Amino acid sequence: MGLVTTSKMFKEAYEGGYAIGAFNVNNMEIIQGIMEAASENNAPVILQVSAGARKYANPVYLKKLVDAAIECNPNVPVVLHLDHGADFETCKDCIDNGFTSVMIDGSKYSFEENVAITKKVVEYAHERGVVVEAEIGKLAGVEDDVNVSNADAMYTDPNEAVEFVKATGCDSLAIAIGTSHGAYKFKGEAKLRYDILEKIQQLLPGFPIVLHGASSVPQEFVKMCNEYGGNIPGAKGVPEEMLRKAATMAVCKINIDSDIRLAMTANIRECFTNEPEVFDPRTYLGKAREAVKKMVSHKIVDVLGSANKA
Ligand code: G3H
Ligand code: 13P
Ligand code: ZN
Repeated sequence: MGLVTTSKMFKEAYEGGYAIGAFNVNNMEIIQGIMEAASENNAPVILQVSAGARKYANPVYLKKLVDAAIECNPNVPVVLHLDHGADFETCKDCIDNGFTSVMIDGSKYSFEENVAITKKVVEYAHERGVVVEAEIGKLAGVEDDVNVSNADAMYTDPNEAVEFVKATGCDSLAIAIGTSHGAYKFKGEAKLRYDILEKIQQLLPGFPIVLHGASSVPQEFVKMCNEYGGNIPGAKGVPEEMLRKAATMAVCKINIDSDIRLAMTANIRECFTNEPEVFDPRTYLGKAREAVKKMVSHKIVDVLGSANKA
């Protein structure tokens, strides 16, 4: 099957009332854990790479690790996606180096500037058979070096979303309806603005919507982290049933990074505490990889609904 774009994947997900998991990848164990889960559940998957991941692992290593993952799992349809592309040059570099999808994140700009930069990326990408995700509205939380406080977060305006999609020709759109990046998403009760999502769905029927900041921050991992020497009190994510509901609506791509971090850290901490004699990285990284696989498998089957859709 190899690398594909999101076009067919999103069309089928939209019509079938499920979503594709977009998982952030930073190293070999993460890629292996995700791919084993996708393969065992016969699920399509999006592997996404942030600027931070490129800086950490080196773009060449990441691309070759993904190539290896595809070779080892030939039945899994895989999209290689740039997460939160900050500028045209980063998008161009990924397009020129085998990515099948890029995100240009112009949400920090004015509407007009966002349209202009997105249009430029769309033009370059489409000429080369690559699809483009754009963003309108502002999520709270931390992504790369940008920190948006809850007060500065801005819900997406449905009418602006329509104008933006028409003006740019982007293939999918990330919107702000109350999710945020990181492990501290809600102080009180979790709330998502389904009314905004519904309105966008009405105005743009069939158009794929993306949900960033969609980790559910499983409390078993938070508890494990805190029990084994960590300090992340009050970490809280988007309840899984809320994500399931979004997946039955226009949301075709659900972004998950923090849950991978938590699964790995919780299990490595447990290993270091309970087995202090261990010093072989394969032991604790192996446990971390297994935890990623189990968590991703659960998302595919119970949250995204993407099992057996490969
Ligand atoms: O949107 C943010 C993702 O979680 C990526 O995080 O920039 O630290 O790699 P990162
Ligand atoms: P989380 O921090 O909720 O995992 O979100 C990840 C994300 O949106 C990556 O773009
Ligand atoms: Zn994001």
